[in-house]
Amino acid sequence: MRFQYDTIGERFVESKATAAFSAADTHTLLGALDALGGVRGLDTLDLACGYGYNTRLLARGGARRAVGVDISEEMIRLARAHGVIGGGGVGALERAVGAVRPAGAPASGADGRTGTAAAGAAAAGAGAVDAAPIGFGVAEAESMGFGVAEAGSIEVGSIEYVVADAAKLPQMGPFDLATAVYLFNYATDRSALHAMFRSIRANLRDGGRLLAIVPNAGAYPNVDWSPYGVRIVDRVHEGDAPLLKAQFLTQPPADFEFREWAHADFAEAAVEAGFSTVGWQPNRTPPADGARDEAYWTAYRAWPISSLMTCTA
Ligand SMILES: C[S@@+](CC[C@H](N)C(=O)[O-])C[C@H]1O[C@@H](n2cnc3c(N)ncnc32)[C@H](O)[C@@H]1O
Repeated sequence: MRFQYDTIGERFVESKATAAFSAADTHTLLGALDALGGVRGLDTLDLACGYGYNTRLLARGGARRAVGVDISEEMIRLARAHGVIGGGGVGALERAVGAVRPAGAPASGADGRTGTAAAGAAAAGAGAVDAAPIGFGVAEAESMGFGVAEAGSIEVGSIEYVVADAAKLPQMGPFDLATAVYLFNYATDRSALHAMFRSIRANLRDGGRLLAIVPNAGAYPNVDWSPYGVRIVDRVHEGDAPLLKAQFLTQPPADFEFREWAHADFAEAAVEAGFSTVGWQPNRTPPADGARDEAYWTAYRAWPISSLMTCTA
């Protein structure tokens, strides 16, 4: 069976690397992971992993295990091709989120790579196309405790990728932490939405956390997100939640569709699945720079594309 991301996979990679809303989502996710004390030594699960962007963040943050799950075989193929640091080295989004420097380098930044055989082996095990030693961290991530601490050596947790529907996950854990960046909006009906939360809960240890980036409902047709990399073109009333027809504003634009669930729908599904706490945080935005000034981000924060949902198992 083919899924929409089997067709738009490469366009999505382009969007992730260039769209401002993705930079904001990454900033938000990193802030939340930092607030939890980082991921070092944790068993982590990244749902709807796409081409593995967040799975790699978890592995580079020192997670003991980072398992990426996606329903699209094409996205998992791209994830494996990106290895641990990303196919072409450090990505544009990482540069947008924070200055990238080699592991162990001073913050002022020399530009050599460092790494260990173990890291190289981890990259190879993950199907890396770049077999060079892995030595990069994201400076912002490092300041949040996600980086590679020791000069001259790094510990990159193992990465595994699995093709699976998040509504029907096998037992793969238990995990301490699950991330789900734009998963739940692809639940096609209420029973699928509830099944996703149940199968995630079943894979978490008691006390484990779920961090989910979910779209905010109600923007269309009043809010134009085009300057931030995505456009909603139609909203169709059908089924358990309206169907939003949208485009990633890549070259050329890529059509995709998702469901406009309310935050209350997500919270209800989480509680029904047995999560003991559900909380919400507004989207955070990266520091202003030459390309995106403070006014640009202030306008975005007035009605951001997404919010962060945090649940405790
Ligand atoms: C917008 S992409 C986000 C990818 C990734 N989380 C990121 O931030 O780069 C959404 C992903 O969800 C995946 N997806 C959609 N429905 C899914 C399901 N039922 N189970 C697992 N993955 C799913 C798609 O294949 C796609 O790769």
